[in-house]
Amino acid sequence: MSSSRPQGAIYARAHARETVPIPADQVSYLIRTAARAPSVHNTQPWRFKVSEDAIELYADPRRKLRMDPVGREMLISCGAALFGLRLAIRSLGYRPDVDLLPDPGRLRLLARVRLSAGPPLTDGERRMLEAIPHRHTHRGPFADEPLPNGLLAALQHDARAEGADLVLVQPGIIHRQLAEIVNAASRRQDLDSSARAEIRRWTRVIGSTARDGIPAQAFPVTRIPTTSQLGRLRQRDFDLGRELGLLTSGGPPAAATAVLVTRGDHRADWLHAGQALHRLLAHAADRWVFASLYTQPLEAAVIRTLIRSRLGLPGEAQMLLQLGRARNTLATARREPAELMEP
Ligand SMILES: Cc1cc2nc3c(=O)[nH]c(=O)nc-3n(C[C@H](O)[C@H](O)[C@H](O)COP(=O)(O)O)c2cc1C
Repeated sequence: MSSSRPQGAIYARAHARETVPIPADQVSYLIRTAARAPSVHNTQPWRFKVSEDAIELYADPRRKLRMDPVGREMLISCGAALFGLRLAIRSLGYRPDVDLLPDPGRLRLLARVRLSAGPPLTDGERRMLEAIPHRHTHRGPFADEPLPNGLLAALQHDARAEGADLVLVQPGIIHRQLAEIVNAASRRQDLDSSARAEIRRWTRVIGSTARDGIPAQAFPVTRIPTTSQLGRLRQRDFDLGRELGLLTSGGPPAAATAVLVTRGDHRADWLHAGQALHRLLAHAADRWVFASLYTQPLEAAVIRTLIRSRLGLPGEAQMLLQLGRARNTLATARREPAELMEP
């Protein structure tokens, strides 16, 4: 399989096209696909409003984390859902015409998407779409294998096509400094009582029927990092010493470490970061490459600035990622489309 970039019209933006009505019998499919997006703590902070000729995406601030006071992570999550929606629209043969932040007076309204006639789904788009069900955030061990040739360059292209940059962190002194910063910042936050309360609220014990939050199958038990984990950044502790987590941890180092960066740090940038994130994760998942995601250190402004300057980043860090191969997958639950409708 080639890792060449997905092509096609999903990436274009147009206003003067003839709008096609939203196909009523596909609404559930469109929203279900959008809602497979990754979101911080699996909060799924999105809502949709469907009219005859547009689908509107809204943020749901009741699901915003206290650790995310300005809603940066909430908007990255919603941007990821927007990418899923665009891809699903493309799979019906339409072109999604996206107006980002169409009404500055309505802060919750993030995007208005209309449909127009589009070219057939490209091979790259089809493969990303097929990867959406098995794409997952990987917190267990990676396989001890290199990434497919050319994949990282293709993922960097994905990020750029969505208005972001994927900066690779090469092994060596800078990587070690990043690992130390992440370790110290995460350790401090793991002790913060309000962060801990939020983790408890959004983690689920085995057998839970909740359709949001992070299930015990998706995180490991609390483990003090050892030298055998060098090369793997310290993960957010979802277990908090409760011994709920069912994943094993450790294993070989990740095959690549990267930072998703945007030039600016405003609402539109966060939405672009989310679209870039979902696009590159779906592309990677097509090759059975998955990512561990880390935003805990970026929740402290001073650490975010420190990471930017130590790594010499060309913009604002929105997400740290580690990528590796895996043969197992675990899809976490999502709420049903009917629960996601904006009145
Ligand atoms: C903005 C954002 C921040 C995230 N931060 C973290 C994180 O710090 N640690 C982590 O393990 N996963 C993180 N994730 C991954 C989510 O926990 C994950 O997407 C969610 O639980 C749904 O699971 P899935 O990605 O396997 O579908 C983040 C995801 C997003 C979109």
